[in-house]
Amino acid sequence: MHHFAYRDGVLHAEDVPLTDLAAAHGTPTYVYARATLRRHFRVMDEALGSHPRVVCFAVKANPSLGVLETLGRMGAGADVVSGGELYRALKAGIPGERIVFSGVGKTADEMRQALQAGIRAFHLESAPEMELLDSVAQQLGRVASVSLRVNPDVDAATHPYISTGMRTNKFGIPMAQAVSLVEDIRRRKGLRLHGVACHIGSQITQLPPIREAAHKVVGFARELRSAGHPVREISFGGGLGITYRDETPPNPAEYARVLAEAVGDSGLSVILEPGRVIVGNAGVLLGRVLYVKDNGVKTFVITDVGMNDLMRPALYSAWHQVLPVRQASADAPQTTVDVVGPVCESADFIARDRTLPPLAAGDLICVMSAGAYGFSMASNYNSRPRPAEVMVDGGRAFCIRSRETYEDLLAHERAMPD
Ligand code: LLP
Repeated sequence: MHHFAYRDGVLHAEDVPLTDLAAAHGTPTYVYARATLRRHFRVMDEALGSHPRVVCFAVKANPSLGVLETLGRMGAGADVVSGGELYRALKAGIPGERIVFSGVGKTADEMRQALQAGIRAFHLESAPEMELLDSVAQQLGRVASVSLRVNPDVDAATHPYISTGMRTNKFGIPMAQAVSLVEDIRRRKGLRLHGVACHIGSQITQLPPIREAAHKVVGFARELRSAGHPVREISFGGGLGITYRDETPPNPAEYARVLAEAVGDSGLSVILEPGRVIVGNAGVLLGRVLYVKDNGVKTFVITDVGMNDLMRPALYSAWHQVLPVRQASADAPQTTVDVVGPVCESADFIARDRTLPPLAAGDLICVMSAGAYGFSMASNYNSRPRPAEVMVDGGRAFCIRSRETYEDLLAHERAMPD
């Protein structure tokens, strides 16, 4: 469910025509519907009923302050994976007690930053990380609250690049090793055991792997408890998929039911770390056709949306719907084209072999479901300034990030002496 729809033949974000946004902000521009963002957060937050939980938005999916502020004011916490994400979450007003820190490569500086912010929990991924965190915490005279991220060895049945819960992945600690790590944590003055965490992958569209991982991890938490360890909280990570094309992922209520069943009467409070399901379908990428080129074999619709602006098709062969902003008439002839960008490599495509109504130079296009891992993975490849971001709220539109300028591109560079 989202708030992008045609009205009088023009695609709107909530009550604002995308044609107006293109005129005011140029292209390419990311456009978010605040109503969708809020709705998705609310649905996820309410899915567990009255069970004690914090929904920690996975900042990596969309780290823009306008997004974090919107969610933070609704009670969202944050799942961060770097000092930069922590800085953003705090700037957006999300309190430390609602922030968890994931990731396999936390540095001592990042640990210090997070300890000073009084975060809820570090999700520990290895024994050496535990040792460093203990010493950093002791130097600061603090006690770090830690949850062990375990690797349940479950195949999330998603794209291999975003599958994280198998033995062969770099993430988490095998349960067999985790038991002795917990004993070690108990002896360390800088650490206090808080909970157990897992995250088996992203864009998961089936319940069985989620159920299997949840039962394994809750079972592990119960085991630790019966050995006398004070495990209070369990994080199930993120990963719930969305519909890009024809996927039928479980809805948040079904997802939550599976998790609640696994938690049972354990009394564990729950952390969820959703990213994509909150923001994916709340954002689109607005672009413009520059040229249409027919090389005799294929027709290329060349747009100003490059792989640097939206990397997902190039990196994961991801499918995003492409719509003309001005709706074609029902009897318009459809042709099969490649919608591509201006970047100089053949990975630079938005949609391949796509059947679309006629598009001509100057027409606006809209790349759907681009709110998650869109801007956050954008780069300056080919020295292209990154897009603007606009948040629509009812009939109003707010520029939450202006388009980068050429000066921005050079801001950190220094000339070489002769
Ligand atoms: N928690 C942890 C520890 C994670 O690593 C991730 C995502 C999430 C939560 C949020 O997962 P989500 O609910 O968004 O599925 N760039 C890729 C996705 C990478 C996901 C990485 N980890 C893409 O564009 O599909």
